Amino acid sequence: MNKMIEEAINVLKENDRGGYTVPTSRLYPFQWNWDSGFTALGLWRFNKWRAWLEIISLLDAQWENGMIPHIVFRQNDPDYYPGPDIWNSNNEPPSSCLSQPPVLSSVVWQMVDKGTPYDARKAKEIFSRLMASHRWFMDSRDPVNKGVIAAIHPWETGRDNCPDWDMGLKNVEVPKELESYARRDIIHVDTEQRPTKVEYDKYMSIVHFGKKVGWNDNVIYNEGPFLMADPGIQFILLRATKDLLRLAHHLRMNAALDEINNWIEKLTKGSAWLWNETVGGFCARDMRTGKFSDGITNASMLCFYAHVGDNLQREKMATHCERILKKCKYAFPSWDPEHKCFNKIRYWRGPVWLIMNYMIEKGLNEMGYDKLAQRIADDSKKLVNTAGMAEYFDPIEGSPLGGANFSWTAAIYLEMNSVDISKNITEN
Ligand code: DGY
Repeated sequence: MNKMIEEAINVLKENDRGGYTVPTSRLYPFQWNWDSGFTALGLWRFNKWRAWLEIISLLDAQWENGMIPHIVFRQNDPDYYPGPDIWNSNNEPPSSCLSQPPVLSSVVWQMVDKGTPYDARKAKEIFSRLMASHRWFMDSRDPVNKGVIAAIHPWETGRDNCPDWDMGLKNVEVPKELESYARRDIIHVDTEQRPTKVEYDKYMSIVHFGKKVGWNDNVIYNEGPFLMADPGIQFILLRATKDLLRLAHHLRMNAALDEINNWIEKLTKGSAWLWNETVGGFCARDMRTGKFSDGITNASMLCFYAHVGDNLQREKMATHCERILKKCKYAFPSWDPEHKCFNKIRYWRGPVWLIMNYMIEKGLNEMGYDKLAQRIADDSKKLVNTAGMAEYFDPIEGSPLGGANFSWTAAIYLEMNSVDISKNITEN
């Protein structure tokens, strides 16, 4: 077996905490929502039941209202801030009180589509839970029925410090009564590669507001300090809903079809609201002011993955893709390298993330942009082969950034190499 593939498997095994996988030790010592989704894809390549267990354990933390929280705290750990006592979720297992990009239905569909009757049986067991999580997004993050999903916190987008959120964060006031706190992330990772203190103060201010209103989704939507539309969440949810429809057909869940089709129609219409004519691309947008972000990101490129946009819009997005790839040695940066806010090492303000590359590549391939897709696949493999399973990578130098031995990078590496190693592992 190729040495890097073996290493990727080892990373997933080392990050296994018994039924769930941490993104990496110390920096992220709990279960994260979309991390677990992508991790399941990698696990599935060599251990199917463990992949399903990853998903089932995440769903075990699903809230009664259908929300799958972004972090599940099964124990306290002083290595991370803000931990369970700060969120105060008041449920079991304790969790954070907002969600994350909903990749789960797409992951499940892939496991069923490529899998066996065992996979279909496992999917059937959790189908109603997937429905509930989609219903929660549609009801709680789009209560006005606009077809545009709102993010109530940059953490919900998973792209925490992307310049997309700068305008929304500007409006967030830091309350005087905000508890003082000590960040832990910058003990584990170089400060230059993480969000700034100003950003963290704002992140904690939004948490402070949420706690004050008892995490009431309605109040947060109408009065919360931050409300932005994210092409990442919008396109990932739309794609996941289309995959949920495929799953429903496959499992003959006919009673669910109308509701799912209705969601697809709404989200497709709503996606048009994210088209920024000035930039000629899909961009984040402030829900309250209607003001657009002005940068092309790796989330903008997920329009291909969601199959949205007319022909002209797709051509414009493909042209952006080519232009940006010319500026970077390694695809695909999280922020436009020609924009003044680009920073090649600071988290989501420039670096490359393999999970995003995976979704962009898949979308480009499906929409017939094979050459662009190939470049992204090749760069992704090159990055891991030379820099290892880092959390994220410098798009210019190719150097590893953030946490090391990262689960989702390892998982996507296995997925991109289409590794079928289940046999070898069972025999070992
Ligand atoms: C972090 O702690 O950096 C996470 O992105 C929040 O989910």
